[in-house]
Amino acid sequence: MLFSVQDLHVSYGSIRAVHGVSFEVDEGEIVTLIGANGAGKSTILNTIAGLQRPDQGEIIYRGANLARMDAHNVVKQGVALVPEGRRIFGNLTVYENLRLAGFQVSRDDLEARIKLVYSYFPRLEERRDQLGDTLSGGEQQMLAVGRALVTGGRLMLLDEPSMGLAPILVQHIFEILAEINRQGTTILLVEQNAHMALKLANRGYVLETGSVMLSGPSKELAESPEVQRAYLGG
Ligand SMILES: Nc1ncnc2c1ncn2[C@@H]1O[C@H](COP(=O)(O)OP(=O)(O)OP(=O)(O)O)[C@@H](O)[C@H]1O
Ligand SMILES: [Mg+2]
Repeated sequence: MLFSVQDLHVSYGSIRAVHGVSFEVDEGEIVTLIGANGAGKSTILNTIAGLQRPDQGEIIYRGANLARMDAHNVVKQGVALVPEGRRIFGNLTVYENLRLAGFQVSRDDLEARIKLVYSYFPRLEERRDQLGDTLSGGEQQMLAVGRALVTGGRLMLLDEPSMGLAPILVQHIFEILAEINRQGTTILLVEQNAHMALKLANRGYVLETGSVMLSGPSKELAESPEVQRAYLGG
């Protein structure tokens, strides 16, 4: 088992956002967590990434417990978050954003990884000197994924990469994610777009108000009446 979350509880003051969530990700898999607004998806990813403290639970990656580890140490362990809403630096260029993401990476590795990012997203190389703010939504999402790639993480956490993008762009980004996965990066994908997420992922977990309601191979989930009714408009 590459990665597992066991009995995770997270709250914001008196608001209990995540209560007792457990799931696993094997090396090389794409696993998705799907759920509606407020289900706790971002809270789970942010907690894994060290941006939020859990009340209880374990987050095990390659045998190390990430729960309560600082965010920069989580990155060092090889876990990279692509946050909800991209969170790129609007007043820095594409290239500067990528360099900054690799602040813990040696100079030689950094340039090699930026080249790798440009190979996945040639558009970013064309726009290397353009300010983050002036990129289109799709380009900003590419840059957010690029920033995670630069860290060299082997487990990528993606928080709603499809948000706000036209279907054709979602398609494009998801194709690149599939390629990134084929090249050896394990992916944990959080999505409201259950249709696309279940197409890309090997397995999935359905979250409702902070708990896992259902899990299984993507194909089974996509065919389940509950998922069809609640998430696939069926
Ligand atoms: N900073 C915060 N302070 C208080 N409550 C919060 C905070 N962030 C999230 N919550 C609450 O925690 C619960 C889970 O929120 P979370 O953002 O994890 O959901 P989500 O599944 O990512 O939703 P979405 O699909 O809208 O992004 C919600 O009830 C939300 O209101
Ligand atoms: Mg969210």
